[in-house]
This record gives sequence, structure tokens and C-alpha cells, in this order.
Amino acid sequence: AWHAAAGARTVLLPQPQSFCAGVERAIDIVEQALVRYPHPVYVRKQIVHNLHVVRDLADRGAVFVDELDEVPRGATVVFSAHGVAPDVHRQARERDLRVIDATCPLVTKVHSEVRRFARRDHQILLIGHAGHEEAIGTLGEAPERTRLVQTEADVAALPDIDGPVAYVTQTTLAMDEVATVVAALRERYPHITGPGSDDVCYATTNRQRAVLAVAGQSDLVYVVGSRNSSNSVRLVELVERAGTPARLVEDVTGVRLAELAGAATVGLTAGASASPTLVAEIVRNLGGLGPVEVVERRITTETITFNRPRELDRAGGDAA
Ligand code: F3S
Repeated sequence: AWHAAAGARTVLLPQPQSFCAGVERAIDIVEQALVRYPHPVYVRKQIVHNLHVVRDLADRGAVFVDELDEVPRGATVVFSAHGVAPDVHRQARERDLRVIDATCPLVTKVHSEVRRFARRDHQILLIGHAGHEEAIGTLGEAPERTRLVQTEADVAALPDIDGPVAYVTQTTLAMDEVATVVAALRERYPHITGPGSDDVCYATTNRQRAVLAVAGQSDLVYVVGSRNSSNSVRLVELVERAGTPARLVEDVTGVRLAELAGAATVGLTAGASASPTLVAEIVRNLGGLGPVEVVERRITTETITFNRPRELDRAGGDAA
């Protein structure tokens, strides 16, 4: 297999790729909480959907739990980047927990949209993936009036809605798929209103546009990310729809020599929750097969950053 895979190779690195501002903020929040507050510091759900990030923070003392009933009364808990339903905040108050909310501000924005539409008596259609934590949290803002739709077929199966109706979306969907479902919704409910601007976030959009810019010239595209990372899986699907084979890999151990045979040009990107160090490690390993020319293809530069939550902004924090 080594012989077949050996040879000179071009690696195309679409940019932007890897960590987004919301993920960097969420990781920083757990790190700060570990420094400032008495241990154990609990984290509800995976802080971001990436195995390496979770392992690294667990090694440094973060205790990951699925639900708040696993957190002792009065303890510190961080909510993950994907956001939580109001019920979870209520439960945290009842258990007297110190909450540090790492919900990405762009997810929080979608929650506010749902509340706004709910106050104005709209029926709400959430375009998203059933069972994904972000979708569960967003649905929880107005469960009695929000329905989840994933596909055009779901739209066709929706009931007639007489009164006002609105849609919002998960932040990590594929741009082309959202457009299809929104078009179907507009046809079904000509009076439907949507978010001011798209809910698919800047980071999702940029990573998708960037990988599409190299997909055509690549024999194979690797996307670094975990199985449950929505935006990473969407990158794989998008490249495949563009006609180029794509593979999701957790890290360098997922790269197989057999698939590199004949792949003279390899595209290499990473989802918003995957560290750039994982990408660098793959590039290094490809270098073991022959000379590698790394070519960056940048479509835009991201300058967005998000502030820490107020409770972590105070110098030292109250436990220091
Ligand atoms: Fe936020 Fe988008 Fe990243 S919603 S966590 S900036 S993928």
C-alpha cells in the first residue's frame, strides 16, 4: 500500500477552515472556569462536537455529563456551545448551580428569533436535524409552536397553517440544502417570514465556500472532524455533491494509504470544532510518502471574535 500511495503530492488547504470564533470562545470558557473556580468543574454535553477537544479538557479536570441531575447541588457547570432550552436553565436554578454559558452568540441569536416570533403568535418551522443538540435547544424556546423540518419531503407533509408562520434554521447546515428547503417553504406558505439574515453562521458558510473552491481540483478531500459534528459532516456531503470523493477523519489515524494511491492532489480542510494541529499532523504525515507542496487557497479572512461571558471577564473571578 505504501508503494501505491508514495509520490509527489499537492495538498490544497482551503481557508478559512478549522476553529471558528464560537468554538474558540467555548474552549476558552472551560479553560478559564478550570482556573477560576473550585473543581470539579462540570460541562453539560460535549463542549463542542470534537473528540480531541473533549479529551483534552477532560485531562485538565473538566467533568463531562449528559444531564444536570449528574451535577451536585451548588457546583459549577458550563453549558456547551450548541445552546440549551430554557428548561435546562430552570433546572440549573433549582439545583442552585453556578452556570457559565458557552452557547455561541450566533446560536443565542436564533433563540431570540424564536422567542420574538413566538411573542408575535407565529407558528415556527425550524430547519435542522432531529436529535442534534442545537435543534433540541432551539425547539425548547417555544416547543408548543415549533416544528422541525429537514427536507423538502418534510415540507410537503406539513399541515396547512392559517395564521402567521416563520422559519429559522440551525447554524451549521449546508447552504444549498437550506436554500432548497426555504424555497419549498416559501411555495407552501407564501406569507412566511424568515430571519433578518440567514441563520447559517459565517463560519459554516465560509468553510463551505472555501472547500468548494478546491473540490474541483482535488482527487480526494479530507475533512477533519468528529462524526457528530454537523458542520464537518455537511462539508463532506457538499464535496461529494460536487463530484469529488470526500472522507471525514477524526485525525491522522483515519487517513488510509490505499485511498491515497492515485490521489496526486488532496484537499484538506477541518470543521469548525476541529483543531488546526490535527490538520498540520496530516500534512506532516503525507510528507512521509513523498515531496508535498502545500498550497493555501483563501477565499476570505475571518476577523470576528466573541467576548467572554461577563462573569469570566472580571479579573481573577470570585474564586481567585
Ligand atoms: Fe457559532 Fe457558527 Fe461556530 S454558530 S460555534 S460560529 S460554527
